Amino acid sequence: MHKAATASPWNLGVLLSGTGRTLENLIAAIERGDLDARIPVVISSVPGARGIEIAGRAGIPARVIRRGDFDSVEAYSTAMYEALAPYDIDLIVMAGYLRKLSIEPEWEGRVLNIHPCLLPEAAEYAAGKGMYGDRVHAAVLAHGDIVSGCTVHLVTNEFDAGPPMAKIEVPVLPDDSVATLGARVFVEETRLYPETIREYMHAHPHLKRSALVNG
Ligand code: GRF
Repeated sequence: MHKAATASPWNLGVLLSGTGRTLENLIAAIERGDLDARIPVVISSVPGARGIEIAGRAGIPARVIRRGDFDSVEAYSTAMYEALAPYDIDLIVMAGYLRKLSIEPEWEGRVLNIHPCLLPEAAEYAAGKGMYGDRVHAAVLAHGDIVSGCTVHLVTNEFDAGPPMAKIEVPVLPDDSVATLGARVFVEETRLYPETIREYMHAHPHLKRSALVNG
């Protein structure tokens, strides 16, 4: 994989709700020089999420914005975008983020998510509202699939239904449990997400906004 640096690092705004393994992986990819980006801010939808601790250890400011504090998904989403605004964000990266975010016009095509199954193949039974983490792997096993995987997709206003950008297939083994399948898929997620973000940055240099400020 080509690792050429972009003109200057992209600013990624990371949204999360949980353990922050995905954030940890992105921070590690940046530190290794595999991803020419910065994470100037993390927003968690859950107070006390481990992801906030991961951000803190890396010196990244973390905000908590709870859906329950707002009357509508629109009001909540506006608060999210307002919180990101001071950080000159180029791309929003969902990293184990479980809430609905309305995609405002200026963010269309600028919000990515990773889902732990193949999309659109498994969309009907292993994606959509309430389908995340172990529930996805349980659904794949219950469906009897012999192949699963992970998919990075653009986020639209419908859960997990945005256009897929990249995916990796992972075998489902006969004696798999939710835990063993989930672990095998996550290993591939750690490779796929930084690679896909890197490819996105190289393919869309015109979408970088922070260059205007950072030079
Ligand atoms: C993974 O299942 C990933 O596909 C999904 O969130 C989970 C990771 O969450 N988007 P976390 O990074 O461990 O909090």
